[in-house]
Amino acid sequence: MESQPEFWRKAGRDDYSFILKASKEFQAFGPYTEIIAGWLKDPWVETWVYGEKAGFIMLGPFFPPYFRSYIDVMAIYVSPERRRKGVGSKMLHLAEERARKKGYQFLRAHVGCENLSALRLFQKAGFEIKKKIENYYPSGLSAFELQKKIKTSR
Ligand SMILES: CC(C)(COP(=O)(O)OP(=O)(O)OC[C@H]1O[C@@H](n2cnc3c(N)ncnc32)[C@H](O)[C@@H]1OP(=O)(O)O)[C@@H](O)C(=O)NCCC(=O)NCCS
Repeated sequence: MESQPEFWRKAGRDDYSFILKASKEFQAFGPYTEIIAGWLKDPWVETWVYGEKAGFIMLGPFFPPYFRSYIDVMAIYVSPERRRKGVGSKMLHLAEERARKKGYQFLRAHVGCENLSALRLFQKAGFEIKKKIENYYPSGLSAFELQKKIKTSR
């Protein structure tokens, strides 16, 4: 697992170039540089950065939980040189903590059907595949919808 000291922060303007550059990795799915730029400005979306720009995760929309019982992992990314060291798993743990703290019942995610590394990451973290959605992404690629029930401490 990752040996560097842990630290989290909400993304600030200094992180935007890292996040937008990283978003090019999602290009096969559609115009994600524009989409992620929009999410960065969206007050319903939280973006967290892990370590010295080792990775980021976008969560939301944080509509009140009486209105919507789940939040989405909208994007998750780990810098190539930091992959396979547990950073992605830690970010999903943070997502679960945020969901629990805000009173949601589920975490949800959509993952490209061909994206085996991401599918394994989510499944290892306890997410289950609920369904396949054809044509989910703007590019026309299909996705699996995954979900994890949030355990309450009560
Ligand atoms: C998917 C991604 C976030 C994983 O981050 P990571 O920090 O490498 O993940 P972790 O080290 O926490 O891995 C946890 C588990 O996921 C699975 N996994 C991660 N990368 C994998 C790979 N390349 N091949 C197979 N399994 C993989 C493994 O089960 C791994 O556990 P293990 O190392 O004990 O075998 C990272 O590869 C990434 O940023 N990819 C590009 C962006 C992307 O596709 N995001 C998802 C969009 S939905």
